[in-house]
Amino acid sequence: MNPETTDATPSLPTGTDDQPIPANRLRSKDLLGIAELSVEEISLILDTAVAMKEIASRPIKKVPALRGKTVVNLFFEASTRTRTSFEIAEKRLSADTLNIVAGTSSVVKGETLADTVHNIEAMSPDLLVVRHSSSGSCHFLSRICRAGVINAGDGMHEHPTQALLDAFTIRERKQRLAGLKVAICGDLLHSRVLRSNVLLLTKMGADVWLCGPPTLVPTGFARSGVHITSSVDEAVEGADAVMMLRIQLERMLGGYFPSLREYFNVFGMTPERVRRAKPDVLIMHPGPMNRGVEIASEVADGPYSVILDQVANGVAVRMAVLYLLSGGAEHEAVA
Ligand code: CP
Repeated sequence: MNPETTDATPSLPTGTDDQPIPANRLRSKDLLGIAELSVEEISLILDTAVAMKEIASRPIKKVPALRGKTVVNLFFEASTRTRTSFEIAEKRLSADTLNIVAGTSSVVKGETLADTVHNIEAMSPDLLVVRHSSSGSCHFLSRICRAGVINAGDGMHEHPTQALLDAFTIRERKQRLAGLKVAICGDLLHSRVLRSNVLLLTKMGADVWLCGPPTLVPTGFARSGVHITSSVDEAVEGADAVMMLRIQLERMLGGYFPSLREYFNVFGMTPERVRRAKPDVLIMHPGPMNRGVEIASEVADGPYSVILDQVANGVAVRMAVLYLLSGGAEHEAVA
């Protein structure tokens, strides 16, 4: 036996009569977005992550579930949390893992995304974890790749594992998602985190409120059953969780609001605004934070903040996704 590992694979929940767990796997070889997941699959990932989280408390944080599998992390955009937590998750499951970042790959010599991935596939990886600035890039890769593709953030489209870890964090503290008021405030227009969270939270029955300056509210959400307001006070009033989104200056050409100071005054999360929420409100942020822009440091570091719990839970949720996509079960195509 490898001394680094235990033989105990995480025990998976068996479900109840009310909430049967459909199978020990996802329907697709890929995780492209929350849009493609059923309520049962979301619950399966969150329940599996509970078992995965226990591994982090062991003296030896490693199980052999993905022994012999190769996972390639392909990051064409900057990342701290997502890339690190995927790599830790892969190592905790005993996968062979390697990282390719655009700046040190042949992408800088002009190689296309398709050629890059075809060459990596020639070396027989089992899973590709991909972050790319183009919306839809992961869907494109899923069509040309034999390996499973996990979306680690594609442009302004989706960031499914972020929404899953956010949901895990809320459910862990509140024991449910259905019926909770969740306010999501900030740069709604450029946020893939927002899109994945709206899809997930509405599927799971939460009451979702979106708040941001009218210039940063995308069209289309009105039909998705969420409330939209430009009043932070209204969004936060009685909220169970408040999720602040980063102002994505790198995706803006300017002109969305007069100044960062004015943005903070009107839309920033301050201790005074937090007092409008439930007494046990959860303050969340996917990171990286712009302190003093969308969130005051007293709130980010304050007693209601679960921002670092989100980061910790990201490892467990990504372990669950990796396990369910490559845990040895035979996959069937999504109809
Ligand atoms: N939340 C998130 O995606 O952070 P990184 O960009 O650091 O991965």
